[in-house]
Amino acid sequence: MGTHGGVVDQPLSGNRQTLPPLVAQSVHVLACPACGATLQHEAEALICSDCDRRYACVDGIPQLFWPHEVVESQADVTRVVQAFYEANPFPDYDAFDSPASFKEKAEQGVFAKLLDEQVAPTAMILDVGCGTGQLSNFLALAPMRRVFGVDLCMNSLRLGAGFAQRYHVENVAFCQMNLFRLAFKPKQFDLVVCQGVLHHTSRPYEGFRRLVTLVKPGGWILIGLYNTFGRIPTQLRRMGLGPRGVYRMDRRLRSGTLAQHRASRWFMDQYRHPHESVHSFGEVLRWFQRTGVEFVSSIPHMTAWTPFRSDEQLFAPRPAGNRVHRALVQLHMLVRGGREGGLFMMIGRRSDRQCES
Ligand SMILES: C[S@@+](CC[C@H](N)C(=O)[O-])C[C@H]1O[C@@H](n2cnc3c(N)ncnc32)[C@H](O)[C@@H]1O
Ligand SMILES: [Zn+2]
Repeated sequence: MGTHGGVVDQPLSGNRQTLPPLVAQSVHVLACPACGATLQHEAEALICSDCDRRYACVDGIPQLFWPHEVVESQADVTRVVQAFYEANPFPDYDAFDSPASFKEKAEQGVFAKLLDEQVAPTAMILDVGCGTGQLSNFLALAPMRRVFGVDLCMNSLRLGAGFAQRYHVENVAFCQMNLFRLAFKPKQFDLVVCQGVLHHTSRPYEGFRRLVTLVKPGGWILIGLYNTFGRIPTQLRRMGLGPRGVYRMDRRLRSGTLAQHRASRWFMDQYRHPHESVHSFGEVLRWFQRTGVEFVSSIPHMTAWTPFRSDEQLFAPRPAGNRVHRALVQLHMLVRGGREGGLFMMIGRRSDRQCES
């Protein structure tokens, strides 16, 4: 710690081996990542009631990482991706970040603001692959929500937990977990968010399927993925240009709005990543169908010529368009030069029917 810009330069204080209050209060929602049994808590660790494994807490972050079971048989990328993010925690904080600056940024970015306004003030939320935890911390500024931010990368989680500690955000907990072995009981969350993560795994659909099991019947899932077409401009820049060219051509880097350390995080994440895949709208609609998730809405909308408005209702059902509409919207993402790295978001609702079967 201490090597990044922003808030991490200040050391964490207090007893950082003690479990975060939210984990101690919500231990009933946790499950052993190795065997799935109930966990019990002591002051400084979680202990499995069945296999007796003990999960310690380091720097205020419960260590619940467990390897993917197919790690030996598949070309699993978990450790490579983990090493990449340990060296490049993403997206990182600005030096002046605070609850007030989060609110200002959310006003400008629209999406986080809409999410915050439209998610219930008492919701139980899981942010999978939370990175440095901005969204988790932001959503937890509503004091009755309970927000778990989980990620592989300890350096990212430390930044998130450091912010929460500094600004006394007590209803958020950051835990180290692998999304293929999440340490929660099924059907615990009103909302599961997973933005920009599954495409950095070796089995995105399998990861998605596991996330769905954690959503309560009638609850929501929001995933963000690189789009097959929207990602092409970034892929071309990555193949054809050196770092200088990329800094000149990438919209975000060129704009000069990012502090130097955050520009470097963006450059690494977008142009030097060891593993990424791309996905189409139709493919994710099929993931939804296979897992009993009803399509609700998306960013961008799946019907052509339907702009995203600043007062959009994220959780109000919208049409999923037809193939022609979806092709046009994806081509439009390409033509716009792959803004946001070509990321698209889809929101679905877990149907009660599927959950009961
Ligand atoms: C591009 S960052 C996205 C961070 C954040 N969600 C955001 O939107 O800014 C991807 C994150 O996914 C995490 N990640 C990748 N594979 C994972 C896995 N198998 N389990 C948990 N987290 C994972 C990485 O450590 C990294 O922090
Ligand atoms: Zn166990």
